[in-house]
Amino acid sequence: MEWYDRAEAYDILCGWDPRPERDFVLGASERYGVGPARRILEPFCGSGRLLRVMPGLAVGFDRNPHMVRYARGRGVRAFRADAARFAVREASFDAAFCLIDSFRYLLTEEAAIAHLRAVARALRPGGVYVLGFELTGDLDPLRSRDAWSGARAGTRVEGEVTCLGDRAARVETLRVRLLVRRGRDRERVEDFQPMRVYARADVVSLLAAEGSFGLAAAYSGYDLDRPVPFEDAAGSVALVLRAHPRGT
Ligand SMILES: C[S@@+](CC[C@H](N)C(=O)[O-])C[C@H]1O[C@@H](n2cnc3c(N)ncnc32)[C@H](O)[C@@H]1O
Repeated sequence: MEWYDRAEAYDILCGWDPRPERDFVLGASERYGVGPARRILEPFCGSGRLLRVMPGLAVGFDRNPHMVRYARGRGVRAFRADAARFAVREASFDAAFCLIDSFRYLLTEEAAIAHLRAVARALRPGGVYVLGFELTGDLDPLRSRDAWSGARAGTRVEGEVTCLGDRAARVETLRVRLLVRRGRDRERVEDFQPMRVYARADVVSLLAAEGSFGLAAAYSGYDLDRPVPFEDAAGSVALVLRAHPRGT
């Protein structure tokens, strides 16, 4: 079992206010993309926590059937697909987004390129893909540990994510531990998730090899008025990628 099979526990643990992320995505489309977005795609949508605050605007997909079922059960549009080989109608979205590190689940350069190409095909020319992930190439893996919790309706979920630092061929493993408490019941979940490692130079060479996107702006938080030079970006970043007109 992977921890994403526990869609509700994920949704509780990641139950922080989603509006800053939503406003950032919508604002990035207005500022750097094709204007106010009316149709938005979320690859790796998980439980749909962000789709829920974009009613009527966004559709998502995820490879995990538990996540897709949970998202649909909460009233959003979601379908099941792998991010490295999905297809939607060409140029049918104004913007796309993928936050909190999910892009790094694509473990090879081929998979990352295939994903970016598929997103570019889905976007109208000039549309943006807001991609948030960890530039781990700049971090000390041995000190990468995060622990937090969430609670809802009598269920409390404690989570801990640790980078085990076993980087080989640009893949590191994150250990995820959950403690789910409901009344007297306790359940522990442990999972090991391989993720691709990116330093800034890896991002630059990926975008050059892929060719569909230009880097419009880089951020280290969700304040649209405070972009950072990409050369200074480190740690958790949100990149705004703009799809080139087709055939350029
Ligand atoms: C950290 S969650 C992010 C969910 C959501 N984007 C959010 O912000 O809450 C990562 C999600 O990526 C999904 N995932 C991992 N690899 C995938 C792939 N190759 N294709 C589609 N979904 C994938 C997992 O099933 C999981 O639901």
